[in-house]
Amino acid sequence: METSRRTKVKELLDSTAFGSTVIVKGWVRTFRNNQFIAINDGSTINNIQAVVDFENTDETLLKRITTGAAISVTGELIESLGKGQKVEIKVKSLEILGDSDPEKFPLQPKKHSLEFLREIAHLRFRTNTFNAVFKVRHALAFAIHQFFNERGFVYMHTPIITASDAEGAGEMFRVTTLDFDNPPRTEDGKVDYKQDFFGKSTNLTVSGQLEGELAAMAFGDIYTFGPTFRAENSNTTRHLAEFWMIEPEMAFYDLNDNMQLAEDLLKYVIKHAMSTCADEIEFLKNRLLEEEKQKPQDERSELDLVSKLNFCLENNFERLTYTEAIEILKNSTPNKKKKFKYLIESWGADLQSEHERFLVEKHFKKPVILTDYPKDIKAFYMRQNDDGKTVRAMDILFPGIGEIVGGSQREERLELLEKRMQEMHIPAEELYWYLDTRRFGSAPHAGFGLGFERLVLFVTGMTNIRDVIAFPRAPKTAEF
Ligand code: 4AD
Ligand code: MG
Repeated sequence: METSRRTKVKELLDSTAFGSTVIVKGWVRTFRNNQFIAINDGSTINNIQAVVDFENTDETLLKRITTGAAISVTGELIESLGKGQKVEIKVKSLEILGDSDPEKFPLQPKKHSLEFLREIAHLRFRTNTFNAVFKVRHALAFAIHQFFNERGFVYMHTPIITASDAEGAGEMFRVTTLDFDNPPRTEDGKVDYKQDFFGKSTNLTVSGQLEGELAAMAFGDIYTFGPTFRAENSNTTRHLAEFWMIEPEMAFYDLNDNMQLAEDLLKYVIKHAMSTCADEIEFLKNRLLEEEKQKPQDERSELDLVSKLNFCLENNFERLTYTEAIEILKNSTPNKKKKFKYLIESWGADLQSEHERFLVEKHFKKPVILTDYPKDIKAFYMRQNDDGKTVRAMDILFPGIGEIVGGSQREERLELLEKRMQEMHIPAEELYWYLDTRRFGSAPHAGFGLGFERLVLFVTGMTNIRDVIAFPRAPKTAEF
């Protein structure tokens, strides 16, 4: 091993090059008995122990080895006699790179609540939990690109600023440079967006799908993976105002092909994370077991995190129609005993997360794909079924999460699409470019959106979506 450069802790912990001189740089997690420093450099959740010869070390230097301080240690790699570690470092020289005042550093070596850590999100990466979560997040992002790349999909970057509302739900953040206190007005007193930066009213995108469809009509198979924004006032553990979404769009796919791709994608990325982040997931499994000890028995998960992930890999997702699901829900015990907050009374009801979770966690006990939803609760672009009531939609529901994927086969027939847009008051003139795909070489196609943070939530076993994105954006929350 070179001695002029630092070696990462992950590499050292697997090393058997005893007797060699190594340099470690990292942050002090703990310093015990004026002798044992646990150093973490982020390369693994595990620390390396460095042993200081305190009798021959300057007192003032020893005092500066505090939790959170950045240090550089040069020493000999030796076989460890202590329990729980194979190697340690016998310190030859030690340098403090950055002090950390123990009176002020908020992350002391003890258990902190996730709520507290959310308030110091700028420092929480330095905990084992967040180290593990963000390693898994990275692995999942990487695996997503790998999955699509292996299948010949083209990665499209769709715009963040757009003038259209892809979901037609009106939950958008406006983008403007107009003077908020004194905007220019038209003759009839409305804000004159012609004078705005883009010459029209614009917003942050809620979905890259519409632009994705344009590309699919040339490349065949494409995907987007980028940030999306929703101004919905949902203060829940499943919603963010800014989240990342993966949106593949495939020409010549029907809904069955679409469902299969989504299931294959989910299984592929979960498998990848499990094999590349085994230590992290094991850590997160134990974290969850600890957390669940606080809960009453009947609210605890039946499976631990690793078993739950394996279970998801080993089983085919259950596929059924919305109509079949409504029948199950109508006759379910929580519905009859009025335990649901929103009772299922008739066909057409929008499913709430409590219903989705009942189907997945209690009824089928595995991931579920619901198809053919009522057209009135779905977006304008979904392919209409012959029954006149339903559309070729699919939602994938996961245990502990509810909806993780939403998608559909798209309406490729111009007349039917135009008619539906009219019914739903979607301005066709503004979406002329979208309709052009149906005018020139229209073809059956399908796609879906996978909420990235919901996926990370599932794989890490975390319970609040704000703990799987570095700096969450939610109602009244935009710190950092
Ligand atoms: O179901 P949604 O709204 O579908 C679309 O946006 C389509 N354009 C997708 C497509 O067909 N290309 O959102 C897709 C997924 C949801 O299933 C959910 O996982 C996630 O995005 N999602 C959110 N995640 C976090 N916070 C929010 N506020 C979310 N809204 C949706
Ligand atoms: Mg949806």
